[in-house]
Amino acid sequence: MRNKIITTTKLGCSMQFTNSLSFAQQKDKQDGLKHFREKFLFPRHEDKDVFYFCGNSLGLQPSATKSEINQELEDWAKFGVEGHFHARHPWFPYHEFLRENMATVVRAKPNEVVVMNSLTVNLHLMMVSFYRPTKERYKIICEQSPFPSDQYALASQAEFHGFEPEQAIIELKSENNSTYISTDEILEIINKHKNELALVMIGGVNYYSGQLFDMKRITEAAHASGAVAGYDLAHAAGNVNLQLHEWNVDFAVWCSYKYLNAGPGSVGAAFIHENHFNESHLPRFAGWWGNDPKTRFTMPKEFVPVKSADAWQLSNAPVFSMAALKASLDVFNEAGMENLIKKSGELTAFLEFIIEEINVELKDTSAKLEIITPKNHSERGCQLSIIIREKGRSIYDHLVKHGVVADWREPDVIRIAPVPLYNSFEDVYHLGHILRQAMLNDFKVENQNART
Ligand SMILES: Cc1ncc(COP(=O)(O)O)c(C=O)c1O
Repeated sequence: MRNKIITTTKLGCSMQFTNSLSFAQQKDKQDGLKHFREKFLFPRHEDKDVFYFCGNSLGLQPSATKSEINQELEDWAKFGVEGHFHARHPWFPYHEFLRENMATVVRAKPNEVVVMNSLTVNLHLMMVSFYRPTKERYKIICEQSPFPSDQYALASQAEFHGFEPEQAIIELKSENNSTYISTDEILEIINKHKNELALVMIGGVNYYSGQLFDMKRITEAAHASGAVAGYDLAHAAGNVNLQLHEWNVDFAVWCSYKYLNAGPGSVGAAFIHENHFNESHLPRFAGWWGNDPKTRFTMPKEFVPVKSADAWQLSNAPVFSMAALKASLDVFNEAGMENLIKKSGELTAFLEFIIEEINVELKDTSAKLEIITPKNHSERGCQLSIIIREKGRSIYDHLVKHGVVADWREPDVIRIAPVPLYNSFEDVYHLGHILRQAMLNDFKVENQNART
């Protein structure tokens, strides 16, 4: 067993890692957030615990979720329609119960955040208001290979306004064709298109590479060129430090089933900066839940928008899905985003260290685990994306067979996300052990000192 110690100052503090089980267990003992793991339900595979690293796709179920949903089922049975006003958490204003905690996760003012619909629906609603192209200013800048749903939404919005997507949409590509692009390069591209630019709409953390973009500087550059700045935060909300209000972001949308642990297809959310609340000319697709709640049930003919993000609501609250989100946000509130981000940085740095250790062992072979996620802590969240040339799929299959739940993204990436709320250093150690075995087996490495 090799015991190597490294020191890193990436997180503004020094960290020392040793590639051993006892080290990982010691780290877990010292972890002030370790008890949060017990608040989640871990799936099992063939009657064994799994190593769950897939919070970037579907977060685990908080153990409180069932009782939170049951409460609504009981109140429905007990009160029928009167539950809108007499349930323990009345359904009429149910989204209000989520507002403060959700605003804390993305650092917004509470009235700038609304929980509603799902991510892609919200993206379209935001673009109705904030993508208002003219003949001169119609271009949209997005990251390289955004998530397909974003691509379809952007392209269909451009087409809806009579523009060819190929002309209107500019993907941010680095000079050297890598998956990484620096903020300076992004700002240069924004500047290059400044006279035709209507909107910058970027995935805050790219789903494939795991790169976290500098939303503060990108927003400033978008504004300086006269464009609007919006973000898809599917992989950022609950994962990285966000300061949406402070950064003057115009709008953002996100889902709640990844790092926010609200369950499959659960309700999404949107942020609209308060700067836009008094813009009476702003086009908006309206629905009755966006109307002032004081007059909503007088059934007014004319739409009177609430002066908050709630104005973009269309329909009444999907209470069961929101109940699941409420259970999870309560856990976030208890743990605190700052604590989670600190632990996240360490856990992911430990994972990176373990992977680099495997590469050291493989150095005389053609095999390599290539991490395409930036090394710099301020440019990533908890996810590391790994490419293994040629053998990626079979290594991934080996991980699955040995109880690791990670995910595979075409064409060639394994995404691994140690989530600070429920993953431990020991989980990461075991993952490293299984990954190492897979690499040694698949690449048939002769290694006299191979650990077992
Ligand atoms: C980055 C990103 N954007 C958009 C979506 C689509 O979300 P929804 O199906 O909730 O609209 C996803 C789903 O995983 C995603 O990862």
